Amino acid sequence: MSPIKIAERIQAVPPSMTLAITAKANAMKKQGIDIVGFGAGEPDFDTPDPIKQAAKDALDRGFTKYTPSGGIPELRQAVCAKMKRDRGLTYEPAQVIINVGGKHSFYNLAQVTLDPGDEVIIPAPYWLSYPEMVKLADGVPVIVDTGADQGFMVTPDQLERAITPRTVAFLLNSPSNPTGMVYPPAVIRQLADICLRRGVMMWSDEIYEALVYPPAVHQSPAEYSQAHFDNTVILHGLAKGWSMTGWRLGFTCGPKAIISAMDNLQSHQTSNPTSFAQAGGVAALTQPMDHLPAWLASFDDRRRLCVQRLNAIPGVKCPEPQGAFYVFPDMSAFYGKTVCGKRVTDSLTLAEALLEGAQVATVPGIAFGDDRCQRLSYAIAKASIEKGLDRIEKFLREAA
Ligand SMILES: Cc1ncc(COP(=O)(O)O)c(C=O)c1O
Repeated sequence: MSPIKIAERIQAVPPSMTLAITAKANAMKKQGIDIVGFGAGEPDFDTPDPIKQAAKDALDRGFTKYTPSGGIPELRQAVCAKMKRDRGLTYEPAQVIINVGGKHSFYNLAQVTLDPGDEVIIPAPYWLSYPEMVKLADGVPVIVDTGADQGFMVTPDQLERAITPRTVAFLLNSPSNPTGMVYPPAVIRQLADICLRRGVMMWSDEIYEALVYPPAVHQSPAEYSQAHFDNTVILHGLAKGWSMTGWRLGFTCGPKAIISAMDNLQSHQTSNPTSFAQAGGVAALTQPMDHLPAWLASFDDRRRLCVQRLNAIPGVKCPEPQGAFYVFPDMSAFYGKTVCGKRVTDSLTLAEALLEGAQVATVPGIAFGDDRCQRLSYAIAKASIEKGLDRIEKFLREAA
């Protein structure tokens, strides 16, 4: 018998449902087929120059060695200053840890707070890694379904009903991946109050904070009172607002006991985030976000184009997102029909049909816990968006 074995822990993690379709899209591209890819999970802008310069300077002065595992003091301090500046929240450095990307922030938070059987309430549609990371920490993801009809937002009543004696945390992601929805401050307040009253931690993933389209505003549940502040863990990072996905810099703000446990775990796990990347992070957080108005204007233009064009296709329902760079149209009206010569029954078969028949790559909603929808990222050139939407429209109009 072969001595090679794979632990049950990882065998229980399903391979990404989107992997097959991404692989197929890539293979078609390699064959020279002109695919319009709506799959991007990152801004299509370059990291701003002053941030890159700060990292280059750090390299040149030899800042290439280990740093404290939880991040350099300057960066922890810069996070404190940023939270004060943007949210009016007063954190001290002991309440902040720098992680190796936002994904790492959530992973380590789950690892240090969950015991076997502990439940985390996650509204669907959700960012696809949350449930798997909860399971990897022996926790139980409790999924609460929201849909396009309720604006993809969990209601206070749904949250109340999902809480059990095993509930440890409620995860809020606003602005949301995959829907782009931004919760109104009044609703966040209601949800945060329920968590406080029922003794449930609020985990708030605010990684898309900067990408909000007025009149919508970003609100953190930690902002309401000292009690809300003490009950909230904020998950954040530099990937989206500063276009630094490859730098792998995330951060977590919350109670000292949690931050110190995460630091302990991190010290035996990844150790510090890359030293010179952290130097770039200090520049990102301490300098004004001069790049932002132009980015937001460009994303907003593309967002409006997508929403308007998708809603003009009979059978497609596309709520208008107020943040991030995704639209999440409900296309379930086409289930049971033939699209591009292929019978469509769910979000996966629709994505396959669009890829094979229309040469357009979308991400099937089932990957995010909502089988009615497709996720399209508009962080691609406007001309590509137009070409892709022309193709989608043509094929969906011909569906029979
Ligand atoms: C909602 C959400 N949270 C966290 C992350 C993690 O970002 P990263 O690990 O690239 O910093 C992502 C990335 O797509 C995301 O969409």
